[in-house]
Amino acid sequence: MSILLFTFTYVDTKPSQVTWDEYSFKINGERLMLFSGEVHPYRMPVQSLHLDVFQKIKAMGFNAISFYVFWGILEPKRGEISFEGFRDLQPFFDAAMKAGIYLVARPGPYINAETAGGGFPGWGTYTPGLWRTSNTTYLDAYAGYIEAVGSKIAANQITKGGPVILVQSENEYSGFQPPYTEDFDYEAKLMQSLRDAGITVPITTNDAWPGAHYTSVDVYGYDSYPNGFDCSHPYTWLTDAVPEWLWGGHEDANPDDLNAVYEFQGGAFDGWGGSGYDTCAILTGPEFERVFYKNQFAMSTTYLNLYMIFGGTNWGGIAHPGVYTSYDYGSAIAEDRTLREKYYELKLQANFLAVSPAYLTTRPMNIYSTQGSFTGNSALKTTQVLDVVGNKTGFYVVRQTDASTNALQTYTLQLPTSLGTLTIPTIGGLLSLNGKDSKIHVVDYTAGSTELVYSTGEIFTWATIDGRDVIVLYGNAGELHETAFKFSGQAPVARVLSGTGTIKQQTLSGGALAIQYTTSGQTVFQVRNTLVYIFVDRTTAYEFWVLHPPSNGAFAQFNTKNPIIIKGGYLLRSVSTSESTLAITGDLNSTASFEIIAPKASSQKVTFNGGTLTLGRTSYGTLTAKRTVNLPSVTIPNLSTLNWKTADSLPEISRTYSDAKWTVANHTSSINPVVPLTSAVLYAGDYGYHTGNILWRGHFAATGAETGFTVDVLGGSAFGYSVWLDSTFIGSWEGDAVHGEFTGTFNFPAVLAKGSAHVLTILQDHMGYEEDWTAGSDAFKTPRGIINYSFVGSNSTTVSTWKVTGNLGGESYVDKTRGPLNEGGLFGERQGWHLPGFNDAAWATGKPTTGISKAGVSFFRTTFNLNIPKGVDYPLALVVTNSTTNPHFRSQLYVNGYQFGKYINHIGPQKSFPVPQGILNYNGVNTLAVSLWAAGAAGAKLDSLALQLTAKVESTLPAVVNQPSPAWTTRPGAY
Ligand SMILES: *[C@@H]1O[C@H](CO)[C@@H](O)[C@H](O)[C@H]1NC(C)=O
Ligand SMILES: *[C@@H]1O[C@H](CO)[C@@H](O)[C@H](O)[C@H]1NC(C)=O
Ligand SMILES: *[C@@H]1O[C@H](CO)[C@@H](O)[C@H](O)[C@H]1NC(C)=O
Repeated sequence: MSILLFTFTYVDTKPSQVTWDEYSFKINGERLMLFSGEVHPYRMPVQSLHLDVFQKIKAMGFNAISFYVFWGILEPKRGEISFEGFRDLQPFFDAAMKAGIYLVARPGPYINAETAGGGFPGWGTYTPGLWRTSNTTYLDAYAGYIEAVGSKIAANQITKGGPVILVQSENEYSGFQPPYTEDFDYEAKLMQSLRDAGITVPITTNDAWPGAHYTSVDVYGYDSYPNGFDCSHPYTWLTDAVPEWLWGGHEDANPDDLNAVYEFQGGAFDGWGGSGYDTCAILTGPEFERVFYKNQFAMSTTYLNLYMIFGGTNWGGIAHPGVYTSYDYGSAIAEDRTLREKYYELKLQANFLAVSPAYLTTRPMNIYSTQGSFTGNSALKTTQVLDVVGNKTGFYVVRQTDASTNALQTYTLQLPTSLGTLTIPTIGGLLSLNGKDSKIHVVDYTAGSTELVYSTGEIFTWATIDGRDVIVLYGNAGELHETAFKFSGQAPVARVLSGTGTIKQQTLSGGALAIQYTTSGQTVFQVRNTLVYIFVDRTTAYEFWVLHPPSNGAFAQFNTKNPIIIKGGYLLRSVSTSESTLAITGDLNSTASFEIIAPKASSQKVTFNGGTLTLGRTSYGTLTAKRTVNLPSVTIPNLSTLNWKTADSLPEISRTYSDAKWTVANHTSSINPVVPLTSAVLYAGDYGYHTGNILWRGHFAATGAETGFTVDVLGGSAFGYSVWLDSTFIGSWEGDAVHGEFTGTFNFPAVLAKGSAHVLTILQDHMGYEEDWTAGSDAFKTPRGIINYSFVGSNSTTVSTWKVTGNLGGESYVDKTRGPLNEGGLFGERQGWHLPGFNDAAWATGKPTTGISKAGVSFFRTTFNLNIPKGVDYPLALVVTNSTTNPHFRSQLYVNGYQFGKYINHIGPQKSFPVPQGILNYNGVNTLAVSLWAAGAAGAKLDSLALQLTAKVESTLPAVVNQPSPAWTTRPGAY
């Protein structure tokens, strides 16, 4: 090959906007720590709320969001791809641009994500060929989806003026069902499909651990969930929970790339019968964040994505059987979009890294020999992380050797510095690490014109404002810390300007002033031209925000220059400056006392949410202001006193009901890996029903000998089913948290006359398809339906016709706005009773708290008005209680047609079902519908059902536009 030809064919198509090396990513040539959080567009159907969530993430100091795309909802029928309603991704992209935050797109096609089928569409369950391999049946299956979603993502890449900087191929393609192994052909073809769709930014993948799978992508990385998912023991950590080995894994897999962690534990999912998300938030709380994230920083991680940062809701049929309606995940931002303490701890870490460019070119120097190093205390591990490019700054990450301990350790640090090796504190005394904690101590750290020889007090942020360096340091209440400032010439004297804290000071030979302080009370001191704040404890540091006024152009909101530091407020979203006015927007949940550190010229006047603040000035020149919170009282309707209507939602068991329009279940074979044991295949998916409740009817002529019916039904964990012989209830498998399949025998009440015609009706729950985590297992094809059945006492009885129904239309689902997973197969759902505008005038009066007096299904409907003023964020939840776990029932809650709750009273644990504004109409009429499936002959009722506020926040959340909630219209062919 001639040189000419070589240069002609070698075209580097990699865009200059996103590059990387062994240390970090660079955007437009500039290194940055990508601190990212996971959000799923489909778990927040109110598209106008994306911006609220994104602004909250950005306000923490994060600069990226990673998101999955759920193929199954975009292509519920093969070849018919729809981005209608909440499925449109453009509002998600647009919100990222408005918030000024980058996006990492993860379109699968496999996503796992505790999502039904791991993201695969229902029709995949009857499509032959092993999925997640290079079998062409699978490549053909995803081709249309990757082309469609790939081109939407491509149009929003940074190269096109959009926020997308990276695109992930596959997901945790790490475990393989023997004899199947890693399929390099599939990996290459999928990447090519993404490129063909127009993706030019780097392609990434997330190995489930650093196991060097799929290293042919541009920037390989891995996932880690080191504290596990046992939320029922939230204080129990393993002694060796904190993983140091990930660094070696990364170095083995892709030493030429940065250490990228595409998913790191940000919470934990909780399953049916679990302990609830409040416990998951403790398991992964601020202590966890300090210890585990700082351990990642000890390994020079410069892309860190926390899964989840905002979990959202498994509304409709989004969940796989391992999770329930809430996908709160115990995340920093709770399901109702309120902020947990975890959020504020993250803000401390993200802001530190955002102002520490030296960190972006570091290497850990002593992995595997951290125990006792630099402290001489073997109960502690200290990783030395040095900037090996700038060759100046060092980061020393200290944590317990035994991660499970709550012991208090004291220590001194022997650190190499530009002034030689120092024993710190130099003024005497001891540093301390109390229990589950970790600290990053810095050496030779630059903060504007200030050089810190070292600081044991952790840095929240620093900024140079009006020519003066401001450094914000923090520590735990009562801890001793020391920070040394370099100087040349005459030794300066530090002066306390404000606060009750005292300082000790001493000059160090070589030219530095060491200041020792105890972090108690906000104390401000000055060394020459540097203002230093000390905080009593994290909660004071939590109050600080760093915001940047927008610059110019399309990426104005991504500006990281001209920081403004403000203390106070529940959430500060933005600052902007115009002439001499500083405009702050934010949210308050109580009266705020602000302290504002901003350039004098642009803060002559300061407004908060549009109102002018009355300003004071501290002795050291910062601004102060008070702002009273405005939390108007509102009236929340009392659901128990509303007018409720009810109707029977199981007419299928009446003598006169005709199932003529149902699908005949008459397939004699299935490609399903679970081999059918019945002559007619009774897998609902094979007939196009993939979600919600499924109904079966089996017609048979009696021999006169049968005394009962045995049936083996598969539905997924926590599923249940009920069986009727003609109109007579003969029993239920009520379900538990464990069983996904159950064989039950149900006795007939009487001998059936020989030759008489009968029908068995089986109502089963469908908890979503299984995931497909192990590639080549086709586990997601595990059917939902009847695996086997027989008549007790009669081998010769045969079902002449089986019929099946799920949601009306199956894959040709009716409700294109609410999507394919919102409706199941209950009669009321097929009829659209859950929708606003259905005329229930002819229905009887009846409440869900009165319930149903027999086994079966009832529907309940009511409407109510809300009138919640603008300027506040008052999230609401539907809250149920049941004082007893008997009798057992399953209930679904629909708000304006959207199914936002699935409650199984004896399995739980969820009792509070947040419903976002935008699904709820906050200024008008709302329709609430409830289905109630009583599993026992005694019937069932909800003990209570209430609409409750979960928080009250004065808010500048961007205007919420109600999601379209189309009203009921005649449903042609509904049965
Ligand atoms: C792909 O899957 C089909 C259907 O299961 C099978 O017949 C075929 O042999 C598979 N092809 C390869 C190359 O494995
Ligand atoms: C940092 O040290 C490395 C290795 O000794 C050397 O190659 C490099 O030039 C140094 N960088 C600077 C900025 O001095
Ligand atoms: C306001 O929010 C913060 C942070 O979540 C919380 O700690 C505090 O208790 C809240 N205050 C009120 C009055 O709700």
